[in-house]
Amino acid sequence: MTRQSGVLLAFLALLIFTTPFCANGAEGKVQVSDFGKTDDGISVQRYVLTNNKGAEAVVISYGATLVSLKVPDRTGKIADVVLGYDTLDGYEQGTSYFGGTIGRYGNRIAGGQFTLDGTAFQVPKNDGPNSLHGGTIGFNKRIWTAVDRSRADAQVLELSYTSPDGEEGYPGTLKVKVTYTLPAETNELRIDYWATTDKDTVLNLTNHSYFNLSGDASQKILDHQLVLHALEFTPVDSTLIPTGEKRAVQGTPFDFTKPTAIGARINQDDEQLKFGKGYDHNWVLERTEKGGLQLAAEVFEPTSGRVLEVLTTEPGIQFYSGNFLDGTAKGKGGQLYAYRTGLALETQHFPDSPNHPNFPSTELKPGQTYSSTTVLRFSTRK
Ligand code: BGC
Repeated sequence: MTRQSGVLLAFLALLIFTTPFCANGAEGKVQVSDFGKTDDGISVQRYVLTNNKGAEAVVISYGATLVSLKVPDRTGKIADVVLGYDTLDGYEQGTSYFGGTIGRYGNRIAGGQFTLDGTAFQVPKNDGPNSLHGGTIGFNKRIWTAVDRSRADAQVLELSYTSPDGEEGYPGTLKVKVTYTLPAETNELRIDYWATTDKDTVLNLTNHSYFNLSGDASQKILDHQLVLHALEFTPVDSTLIPTGEKRAVQGTPFDFTKPTAIGARINQDDEQLKFGKGYDHNWVLERTEKGGLQLAAEVFEPTSGRVLEVLTTEPGIQFYSGNFLDGTAKGKGGQLYAYRTGLALETQHFPDSPNHPNFPSTELKPGQTYSSTTVLRFSTRK
């Protein structure tokens, strides 16, 4: 054997031994492929994050959207536990915000109006009389720039977007970054948000994934058992704008301090449930002084044994029981998503905060950095 062929053989052997490790888990990079072009002809990419425990998260550059999230059940069977579409067209035409990054203002602003430093602002009314999830073209319908920031212990995708001053009526040039982190050895997806502005503004970022932990979106989520670490919620008017009150959950269908099936009380004769057509409310999270990431919600799906814990730095969580899903959204695999087949747990500041001085502030000023983190942690139990 010549020296060159020896070197070549050694190189090939190295390739054969290392490829399986690189192809899977955190040692590999995020895999990129094409997800089609928007109606305006802009290319959208699809990014696949994987780990060593069977989890896989797929994110697209359109809307910095989480399009799929696969995790094992109690027998090790992997299934997708979030709703979404198979094609870019689905996300462009869709009105349900499946998996999208929501901004500038997650949830509602009454009349689409607020005043900041004495100046009145009007943002689009796209939900009856109110503004919802950032207006007509929110962050979930923008093109984000993605960079692979994977490390030895995690696959990381960073997405950025610059929202020009006045976009959808909001003041200030807003530079936003969202990162999705999938650790190599734990089945949790961490979502970090950062933003800066060059003028006083308001913002409230969240992710709008709809979960169905059974992995079968033809099943309703009514048997999922929920815990919300909250003693109060913010009641709403008939257009789902908070009245400003914080109401004790005790003795009401809004008490999820102990594991309770979502369907157990959802159809009770309760004015708040009527307004929401089910659950579509913000809970005031019980947070300890020390701040940081704290457990907000736990969901358990009895058939699969899957458990989702939601941890967040945010003061509130919108629990939405998929009441507006009506079987018209054609989702992944051609599935028509029916009434209450997905549930959203949107970590957030409270809805309509710019009009409620008694709610935690959503203002951001030049020189400040907005930051927020939410972790979706998966496990299983009997
Ligand atoms: C809202 C619902 C809305 C849903 C998606 C939720 O955050 O609270 O009222 O229907 O998003 O459109």
